Amino acid sequence: MAPYIGTPTSRIDGIAKVTGAAKYAAEFNVPGGVLYGSIVPSTIAKGRIVSLDTSAAMGVEGVATVLTHDNRPRMAGRDQDYKDDVAPDGSPFRPLYDDRVMFNGQPIALVVAETSEIARFAASLVRVEYESEAHVTDVFRQRDDAVPVKATSPEGAMFAPPKPRGDAAKALAAAAVRHDAEYYVPIEHHNPMELYAATVIVEGDGTFTVYDKTQGVQNVQRYLCGVFGMKPEDVRVMSPFMGGGFGSGLRPQFEVVLAMLAARALQRSVRVVLTRPQMYALGYRPAMIQRIGLGATTGGTLEAITHDAITVTSQYEDFYRQETGWSGLLYKCANAKYAHRLAHLDLPTSCDMRAPSAAPGVYALEAAMDELAVALKLDPVELRLRCYSDRDQHENRPFSSKALRECYRQGADAFGWSKRNPEPRSMRDGSDLVGWGLATGVWEAMQMPITVRIVLSANGHAEVACATSDIGTGTYTIMAQVAADALGLPLDSISIKLGDSSLPQSPVEGGSWIAASVANGIVTTAEAIRAELLRLAKQMPNSPLSNASSDELTLVDGQLASKHDSARTVSIADAMRHGGVERIEQEKTTTPAEDTARSHNVHSAIFAEVNVDEQLGVVRVTRVVSAVAAGRILNTKTAASQILGGVVWGIGMALHEETLIDHRFGRIMNANIAEYHVPVNADVHDIKVIFVDEPDDSNPLGIKGLGEIGIVGVAAAVANAVYHATGTRVRNLPITLDKLHRM
Ligand code: MOS
Repeated sequence: MAPYIGTPTSRIDGIAKVTGAAKYAAEFNVPGGVLYGSIVPSTIAKGRIVSLDTSAAMGVEGVATVLTHDNRPRMAGRDQDYKDDVAPDGSPFRPLYDDRVMFNGQPIALVVAETSEIARFAASLVRVEYESEAHVTDVFRQRDDAVPVKATSPEGAMFAPPKPRGDAAKALAAAAVRHDAEYYVPIEHHNPMELYAATVIVEGDGTFTVYDKTQGVQNVQRYLCGVFGMKPEDVRVMSPFMGGGFGSGLRPQFEVVLAMLAARALQRSVRVVLTRPQMYALGYRPAMIQRIGLGATTGGTLEAITHDAITVTSQYEDFYRQETGWSGLLYKCANAKYAHRLAHLDLPTSCDMRAPSAAPGVYALEAAMDELAVALKLDPVELRLRCYSDRDQHENRPFSSKALRECYRQGADAFGWSKRNPEPRSMRDGSDLVGWGLATGVWEAMQMPITVRIVLSANGHAEVACATSDIGTGTYTIMAQVAADALGLPLDSISIKLGDSSLPQSPVEGGSWIAASVANGIVTTAEAIRAELLRLAKQMPNSPLSNASSDELTLVDGQLASKHDSARTVSIADAMRHGGVERIEQEKTTTPAEDTARSHNVHSAIFAEVNVDEQLGVVRVTRVVSAVAAGRILNTKTAASQILGGVVWGIGMALHEETLIDHRFGRIMNANIAEYHVPVNADVHDIKVIFVDEPDDSNPLGIKGLGEIGIVGVAAAVANAVYHATGTRVRNLPITLDKLHRM
């Protein structure tokens, strides 16, 4: 049987998804039905609720209750009870807790009714009087008051800027060639297809079953236990499918708190589904004002890198990631310095969004490197190669593997980069200006402790269980592939259970770490299954494996076989039947080995072609080649889809996406996917994904993960191509046609 790992295997849950059999959080029904909650959002950005008149709403037939801070069930009073696994430093938001309003769109009441239509209508009848306070939602107005990030927890410290090296200010001042400029990335929202929703089912024995849209069922379970003083056995959280998360579901969101509040108040099962505009009151990618200074020799090597950033967060939590550190990691440079300040705005707390920190930070670095290449009259690929770093200079250690040179080479070949005329405005396609741009991408390769249970039945079926989520990335499928290979069974003999807090421990699905974590976890547990099978096989009369050790055995084609002597085999079925065993169950925790001697990263090279209408400034991204080095690829089909999706999003970041706030009201003006522009089919043309070979021994399977690398660098590649096409350098995203008016 050929291995499944590495093959372009179609999603095992694909048929369930396209036929509607796969259920999402808002689709679980119970006998007797559910009540529907509709949120009343605040219409001011900051202040207090003076009064809430719910009488008209309560008078609507079919309304069960209107919950507000005045009449809600008890909730915890301490910040620590609201801290989830990935909460930043600060005081987490508490929905319907008190009369304070901290952002526009904040849920301030929940109308619960027999139907969602009644609930929504009644919600429109709730009258609110506020006492407004002055607010600020404009990062440019707040930039002078931004404060240096100050970690108050070990988690916070992980994301503080890296230590400087050398004397960057002096080296920059003395450099033969300098580039120093400010770049801007606006607030962006996640916009997953599936709306955030929670269905809380009252089980009658005092326990609750919760279907919630989340990237971490156990995180939500712990959080609900904290907020409502419940025990883990009182609440089971499930999320078998998720229609896109991108980081917006790492932290528990308010829909689940509201649904639980209503379920507890009424002792009825309750569903809360956010509307698309309400989705914009969840987290967002923080806006980022950044200044990059690059100092180089005339020979195209770097002497100095300075990276100063301002990112935004709420007034109540300090969310930030290591936005600036990528600059000093990616290129060889003896002198580097970083600064990161936070602007506190009257908005919800910002949060992780696909490749948090790297997507905006590397955009600026890679746009700046392009500008440096122009100043040096050097090909952009050649500049990257002259500045190539084989070591992580923050930690002064090598990488476990880094095939970025191959990414540049294979990407350039596939794209036809050698035919590029370096002169801006020199290439044309009919009346369009044509531009070719390059950028580098980088992300982390992480593995987390995880527990996997496998139950092998004598009929040759195996069930693999772990509380991880599949946020649409293909986790079900890669888990089945790895288990099939590790157990020597056909793919369709494997069933996967995930997205259920009652299953063995998993971290949230994020950081691109789940593939490496769960796949190696499956291998560990499969080894325990194999050892148990060997114990049974040895008990058989004249066992061909009587003196074999588990390590020299493999499970293949339903057999326990010696790696050295293919004649020595025992079938799994025979071993179990002889032992009188119907099922073998093993549950093992896999904790990644500490490897402080090496750094673990994934890399990419992105080549983009744009056609720009010279009269109108309309930009089309006609071709992208993304060459990715991310260790072993488990599934070339779902992996390529991950990268492709990241490239599409990168096109959006470059050309379309921007959350627009009316700062007079602190309210988002384009809180819907008609006016918040994302790439549509007509914006997406030819995208080619290349995985370069990158053997890595950081974990037994050599996996690095690639959920996030796909977006990193894409916006810069497109922006650099736009410069090459037009000769106009736009340093504030998105590059809309009005910004190209002077070309
Ligand atoms: Mo990812 S932004 O860690 O879901």
